[in-house]
Amino acid sequence: MTDAGNEALRVDGRVAAKAVRARLKGEVEALRAETGESPGLAVVLVGDDPASAIYVRHKVRACEKVGIRSLSHVLPAATTQEALLTLLDSLNADPAVDGILVQLPLPGHIDADTVIARVALDKDVDGFALGNLGALAAGRPGLVACTPAGVLEMLTRTAETLGEPLSGKHAVVIGRSVTVGKPMALLLLQANCTVTVCHSRTVDTAKHTRAADIVVAAAGRPELVRGDWVKPGAWVIDVGIHRRADGGLCGDVHADEVRQVAAALSPVPGGVGPMTIAMLLDNTVRAFRSRRGLAQPESA
Ligand code: GUN
Repeated sequence: MTDAGNEALRVDGRVAAKAVRARLKGEVEALRAETGESPGLAVVLVGDDPASAIYVRHKVRACEKVGIRSLSHVLPAATTQEALLTLLDSLNADPAVDGILVQLPLPGHIDADTVIARVALDKDVDGFALGNLGALAAGRPGLVACTPAGVLEMLTRTAETLGEPLSGKHAVVIGRSVTVGKPMALLLLQANCTVTVCHSRTVDTAKHTRAADIVVAAAGRPELVRGDWVKPGAWVIDVGIHRRADGGLCGDVHADEVRQVAAALSPVPGGVGPMTIAMLLDNTVRAFRSRRGLAQPESA
C-alpha cells in the first residue's frame, strides 16, 4: 500500500461525481435519440429548512448539467400529510416523472415512513422504500440509496487506482442507519467484502476498525475515527459532515491523523456529498430505463 511517511490518496468525490455526470450526459443524449424523451425528476420540498433548500438547489442544478428535467414542488411548512400524499399520487401517475425525491427531514406533523411508502417503488430514486431495501438485501435489481451507492463507487475507483480488488477485503461500517449503514453493509457484501457493522452499542469499535482493510465512517459523530483506530494502508471513506465551533467543517474521521496512516481517505467537504447527488442522477436514469423496459448498460 503506501510507503511509510506517504500521505493517503485523496478519494475526491468532486472528480468522481464529474466522471459520473459525464457518463450520464452521454446516456441521456442517447436515450433521447432512442425514445424521444428525457428522464424527469420531481423534487418535493416541504417547509423552509435552509439546509434542505440548499441541498434541493444542488440537486436541481446537477439535473440540468446532465439533461435530466427537474420539476420542483415547494410546499409551505403547514402542508398537511394528506395534501403531500395526494401530490405523490399524482406524481406516481404522471408518465413524465421517472423519479420522485421528497427532501428530508419533513415537518414534525408529517410521518416520513408513511410518505416514503407512498412513492411508487419504480420512482423511489432515494432507494428508501422497504421494497427497494428488501431487493438490495435479496441481491435483486432495484434502486439503491444514493449515499451508500456513491461510497461503493468511490471504493471501486480507489481499488482501480491502487490496483487491488475490493473482493476479499474486510470492511468495517460504523453506523447502522436505514439510509446509510445498513445498505452500505449490503453493498459491500455484494462486492464480496467481509463486513462488520459497528454502532453506538459496540464494545470497542476501535478494535474492529484496526483490523479493517476498509472503514466507512457513518456514525454521525465528529472526528470519531482517530489515527490509531486505522490499520496502516487501509482505505477510509468519511460519510459524516459537521459544523465545527470555529465555523469550519469536519467529518466522522480525524482527517489530519488518519491521512498519515491510511492509503486512501475521502475529504470533507468534497468527498461523499457530491457523489450522493451524482448517484441520485444515476438512479433517475436507471428508473427511466427500467420503467420503459430498456436494459441497463453493463458499466452503469
Ligand atoms: N436529506 C438529507 N439527505 C437526504 C437524502 O439523501 N435524500 C432525501 N430525500 N433527503 C435527504
